[in-house]
Amino acid sequence: MTEAVLLVGGKGTRLRPLTVNTPKPMLPTAGVPFLHHVLSKARAAGIDHVVLATSYRPEVFRDGIGDGSSLGLRVDYVTEEVPMGTGGGIRNVLDRLESGPEDPVVILNGDVLSGHDLAAQVAAHQASGAEVTLHLSEVEDPRAFGCVPTDDTGRVTAFLEKTPTPVTNRINAGCYVFKRRVIDAIPADRPVSVERETFPGLVASGALVLGHVDPAYWLDLGTPAAYVRGSRDLVLGILASPALPGPVGESLVLEGAHVAGTAVLSCGTTVGARATVGAGSSVEGSVLLDDAVVGAGSTVRDSVVGRGARVGAGVVLDGVVVGDGAEVGDGNELAHGARVWVDARLPAYAIRFTPDEPSA
Ligand code: GTP
Repeated sequence: MTEAVLLVGGKGTRLRPLTVNTPKPMLPTAGVPFLHHVLSKARAAGIDHVVLATSYRPEVFRDGIGDGSSLGLRVDYVTEEVPMGTGGGIRNVLDRLESGPEDPVVILNGDVLSGHDLAAQVAAHQASGAEVTLHLSEVEDPRAFGCVPTDDTGRVTAFLEKTPTPVTNRINAGCYVFKRRVIDAIPADRPVSVERETFPGLVASGALVLGHVDPAYWLDLGTPAAYVRGSRDLVLGILASPALPGPVGESLVLEGAHVAGTAVLSCGTTVGARATVGAGSSVEGSVLLDDAVVGAGSTVRDSVVGRGARVGAGVVLDGVVVGDGAEVGDGNELAHGARVWVDARLPAYAIRFTPDEPSA
């Protein structure tokens, strides 16, 4: 059995206002907290002990995951009073780890949805004797990511910052296997970034850092559009997860929800517990969180409606986030990444969206 550290201390600023009440790794995704998908995947790969490196809103993790027994895991918690960065967060859990100095410890970012073969990554790490083995994903457009070139043997040769002209489409996918003694060597008294400090330092010192390429499904849930997409892909079965609380299909409707017979749910929509969708509405590729309300004759596309938020009748939402407890009055039309803040009130017919005329 291997143990894992989950980095879940970030504030998730890009996902605000969804992360005002709920840390990003605990946002309901296809009907369960996102972390359930990550933890059940770790369990399936042979991990039995997980330490959560928390900082922002640690109580939400303890309430939602407890001792981990319902997921077949032993889960421990460590909380940084001041965020210590990704490396500092890993170093901070050292005294909870049970592995020996040469043993592999898996490190997972708490906001990555990945179909890669974790057991194969650990096996590659063990076979090579590397200090650290990184999962490298291949993306179509690597300009938004730091990229990680390797030589023919898979040895990482550099960690390159974001650039308009990347030398490879292979990027750091946020899942690492460390020899435990590499964690011992991370400075304990200050914030450290593994991406900016630990990994480049290891490469510069000549240590073997291995890149393990696995081109499986991979998504960083950092933005609202990515969060909506991740949830949709799980509901549709594009990525399988042992934690999905129902059969795959066009939609997932949780307990106590009420969907009018003339409403249409499609493209991997989730309707949260006790949420309601009114007559004649269409909800497409969207996430309605628990107790959300969508009135009659509304269209909700690629959007999130927060916990207990109320969307009136005849509303159009397209690529929009409505925060927990907010109200969008009848007849509003919002699009293009608009975000309605937690508990905000938008009067009826306050905003009408008119698409730009196509330019001649
Ligand atoms: P943004 O604020 O939107 O960039 O999100 P974030 O705060 O989650 O940052 P980022 O996406 O870069 O973080 C990657 C992963 O590392 C996430 O799973 C975070 O929860 C985690 N993380 C980031 N900073 C820290 C930290 O200081 N301590 C711990 N324990 N985890 C962190």
